[in-house]
Amino acid sequence: MNIVEVKNLSKKYNSNLAVDNISFDVKEGEIFGLLGPNGAGKSTTISMLACLLEPTSGDAFIDEKSVRKDPMGVKKVIGLIPQDIALYPTLSAKENLHFWGKMYGLSGSVIKKRSREILEIVGLSERAKDRIDTYSGGMKRRINIAAGLIHRPKLIMLDEPTVGIDPQTRINILETVINLNKMGMTIIYTSHYMEEVEMLCNRIAIMNEGKIIAMGTKDELRMLVGGKDIIRIDATDIHPRTSETLDTIDDVDKIKIIKNQIEILSDYGRRVLSSVISKLNELDVKIDSVKVQEPDLESVFIHLTGKSLRE
Ligand SMILES: Nc1ncnc2c1ncn2[C@@H]1O[C@H](COP(=O)(O)OP(=O)(O)OP(=O)(O)O)[C@@H](O)[C@H]1O
Ligand SMILES: [Mg+2]
Repeated sequence: MNIVEVKNLSKKYNSNLAVDNISFDVKEGEIFGLLGPNGAGKSTTISMLACLLEPTSGDAFIDEKSVRKDPMGVKKVIGLIPQDIALYPTLSAKENLHFWGKMYGLSGSVIKKRSREILEIVGLSERAKDRIDTYSGGMKRRINIAAGLIHRPKLIMLDEPTVGIDPQTRINILETVINLNKMGMTIIYTSHYMEEVEMLCNRIAIMNEGKIIAMGTKDELRMLVGGKDIIRIDATDIHPRTSETLDTIDDVDKIKIIKNQIEILSDYGRRVLSSVISKLNELDVKIDSVKVQEPDLESVFIHLTGKSLRE
């Protein structure tokens, strides 16, 4: 069963079409990923699904309730974990959860019981009575997630929950997302980190400039690149003519240079590798490392847009 059905949803800010006629479904029990670079329209999409922002056109149905016609109904079903921390810094974790619980009309005893469970899930039981402004960045992220869970939503939407945090907290948050899903919650997860989305999500929509440019399982998306390999080269002193020089090699399909990384798509990664390296040597490019990989979501994105997700 579909818990989310998005139908031709658009959002215009003045003349800027931030979300451009997107449609997708999310099945109950799925972890669904929205992957895209800065400005792709991920937060705008999430905000419309959470009834914080009115669509310019189209509609979305969550648990069969329209975000346009029944925002109160939708809000009961969803938990939104926003990109920016939305909590009272001078209140403790417990007090913040109490506040959110009251907002949802829960009784004191229910809030107390659920707060205990949720603090356990996000690993903050020990710090429950401390003020949020004494928390580390990673702990703030975790309590931010907790606040979205107090009313036991069926659907949780997390908007880039791992931006700007240390690797340990990131792993912790990804594990929390997996656990919430195992407990029966459907998840929409936005990110511009393709590794996270690849690791977490059953299905993924790739967004770019307001549009969904591809959608499917990881394997389905990889097939869009065909049998192509991706060659990733870390290098320094990258010569300005590198791209056009590599382009002269037969079987080199696409080349993208971002800072100190050269990415090359080719049907025959291993075969073209020696030509690539000798061309780079001719240009006095210093090669630090070379990898030939199967296509990943990054290569899908480059294939479809000619840009990198990380730009
Ligand atoms: N309140 C606003 N007013 C005007 N334009 C906006 C507003 N919010 C977003 N935009 C524009 O809409 C587009 C999509 O922005 P959005 O925040 O949805 O992207 P995003 O995919 O979440 O990006 P990021 O990864 O940076 O969070 C951008 O061009 C942005 O400048
Ligand atoms: Mg955003």
